Amino acid sequence: MTDDVLMSVRGLKVHFPIRKGVLVDRVVGHVRAVDGVDLDIRRGQTYGLVGESGCGKSTLGRAMLRLVEPTDGTITFDGTDVRALKTEPMRLLRKRLQMVFQDPLASLDPRQSVESVLTEPLRTHGFPGKPADRVRELLDVVGLPANAAGRYPHEFSGGQRQRIGIARAIALNPDLIIADEPVSALDVSIQAQIVNLLEDLQEQLGLTYVVVAHDLAVVRHVSDTIGVMYLGSIVEESPSDDLYAEPLHPYTIALMSAIPIPDPVVEERRERILLTGDLPSPANIPPGCRFHTRCPFRQTTRCADEVPSLREIRPGRKVACHWSEEIVSGRIQAAASSHDPTATEVGAPV
Ligand SMILES: Nc1ncnc2c1ncn2[C@@H]1O[C@H](COP(=O)(O)OP(=O)(O)O)[C@@H](O)[C@H]1O
Ligand code: SF4
Ligand SMILES: [Mg+2]
Repeated sequence: MTDDVLMSVRGLKVHFPIRKGVLVDRVVGHVRAVDGVDLDIRRGQTYGLVGESGCGKSTLGRAMLRLVEPTDGTITFDGTDVRALKTEPMRLLRKRLQMVFQDPLASLDPRQSVESVLTEPLRTHGFPGKPADRVRELLDVVGLPANAAGRYPHEFSGGQRQRIGIARAIALNPDLIIADEPVSALDVSIQAQIVNLLEDLQEQLGLTYVVVAHDLAVVRHVSDTIGVMYLGSIVEESPSDDLYAEPLHPYTIALMSAIPIPDPVVEERRERILLTGDLPSPANIPPGCRFHTRCPFRQTTRCADEVPSLREIRPGRKVACHWSEEIVSGRIQAAASSHDPTATEVGAPV
């Protein structure tokens, strides 16, 4: 692990047992929500995590902070083996690791005033100085008036509530914030304001972010690196600009082709890559390449029986596909799936 990596994750798995039986509790299978993820989160940067609803983004984000206990794998944060920590050292580390949630109202207690919401973490962790001063400072930093302190979450708009959620996340001067769909519940006009606030805070406070979204457009502008998730696994990882300029994994290619292009001429001419079949259940992940049941580039060899590793095929660009070189060079083309009645477009917001 190099110095500029703040958090490093290796082989991370979160498998939820599926139980059956009334009298005798039996485990009949597992939901493999996160199924072997490797990630490096660099200091001061933003790692964007994208993928369809249900692919394991939230579970991965929560597992990185041990809000859900991983089944396997390692998490190293600033040199500390996070999974080895006992209760008290883990509690102390939590100061440095915070989360921002999609629905700020759901994560805010309606009976607590904003002052109380923001004071709570300060008291729990014994933040130096007068809590009231810190609350005033936090409100100012996130662009809320000082009199917001005495009001209650329901008195605010969605965007303002997300500002409260962000103020709470930064209250203890954390190093890393995992923002799980931070703008998905907001109007488009408000989304940009919150994204700008997150970016300003990153600069002012030297924060490191993981931003989770099902919408590629949201993570595009904020992310330095993007990881694309499919069924619990990262299938492509790339610097943000390169990913948009030329997606390499067939799943990313399909996701990108579902985003409308503002230029009507380009939009008219370009080819949509449609996927056949439904998204498999994470309780029943296909063998071999987990994308093979829907991949328009699927080949008769390797795809169905050999697991592709996430490999660097160009500097900084990692792809989990056996046939990346051939697909990129055009030697392997997408099968025409547009006449298939089961073909579907991916990337629709859920
Ligand atoms: N506590 C849990 N118990 C069982 N299954 C879960 C639990 N949490 C999430 N899952 C399942 O894990 C999969 C991934 O969920 P999630 O991480 O929420 O995906 P995303 O955030 O990408 O939409 C889903 O199939 C979901 O139903
Ligand atoms: S390994 Fe095969 S099925 Fe998987 S993404 Fe590549 S071409 Fe598609
Ligand atoms: Mg989620």
